[in-house]
Amino acid sequence: MATSSPSTVPHHVAIVMDGNGRWATKRFLPRVAGHQQGVGALSRCVKACMSRGIAVLTVFAFSSENWNRPAEEVSGLMELLALSLAREVPSLKANGVQLHFVGERQQLSDKVRAGLEQAEAATADNHRLVLNVCFNYGGRWDIAQAARKLAASGQEITEMALDRALALAHVPDPDLLIRTGGELRISNFLLWQAAYSELHFSDKLWPDFDEAALDEAIAVYASRERRFGKTSGQLVTGTQPSTEKAA
Ligand code: IPE
Ligand code: IPE
Ligand code: MG
Repeated sequence: MATSSPSTVPHHVAIVMDGNGRWATKRFLPRVAGHQQGVGALSRCVKACMSRGIAVLTVFAFSSENWNRPAEEVSGLMELLALSLAREVPSLKANGVQLHFVGERQQLSDKVRAGLEQAEAATADNHRLVLNVCFNYGGRWDIAQAARKLAASGQEITEMALDRALALAHVPDPDLLIRTGGELRISNFLLWQAAYSELHFSDKLWPDFDEAALDEAIAVYASRERRFGKTSGQLVTGTQPSTEKAA
């Protein structure tokens, strides 16, 4: 495990983008209108993260459990994903964003799957910001698929081996995990990787999450003492341990 000095700006921020439906309902709009606004909020958030020196952003866009929503909302979200890829990928590519989609792809349509693959290929050489979009993702799914991989290859099940088999093995664990929309729960996001993330809950509905809200989260993060099991006294003298896997 690498060690790093404490930083005021988190290297990796993860966000549960919650509250789109309530944003729309408050305005007597269909829920999918809230999801459309949510895409705009994400686009602004990506730019704000880059300008603040955040290197990795991981967002929860569609959970394994979200299939249980009304059929028209699910199909609206699938269409929105395809449409957003077509609209957003050129500027993400131009701005140095490397896109990854994290989650079970077998359940997605051929069209959506092809769109994800094209977007990843188009941005693979970028290095300014890694953007992981968790789509049809669940923390339990991830741990189970990683365990299946290890079992199939006959590898010993250690924390490190499991860690490397997880869908987010290409990035270090999140330093800061934000949930918008006022709910105080994890909802099956990053169950393994959030072991030592600092948690921040914002009452703002995701479409309203702006630069000031991001700065507030970063400021709260900077004020926290990350002890990783040690005592405060130990941190004063030494460097801060980190759960980071890779740069
Ligand atoms: C989060 O917003 C986006 C998805 C889960 C797809 P919601 O749609 O959950 O919004 P609320 O929580 O109903 O307001
Ligand atoms: C979590 O939000 C999933 C996403 C933001 C994609 P939900 O709205 O699905 O979570 P619950 O159902 O309130 O726990
Ligand atoms: Mg919700």
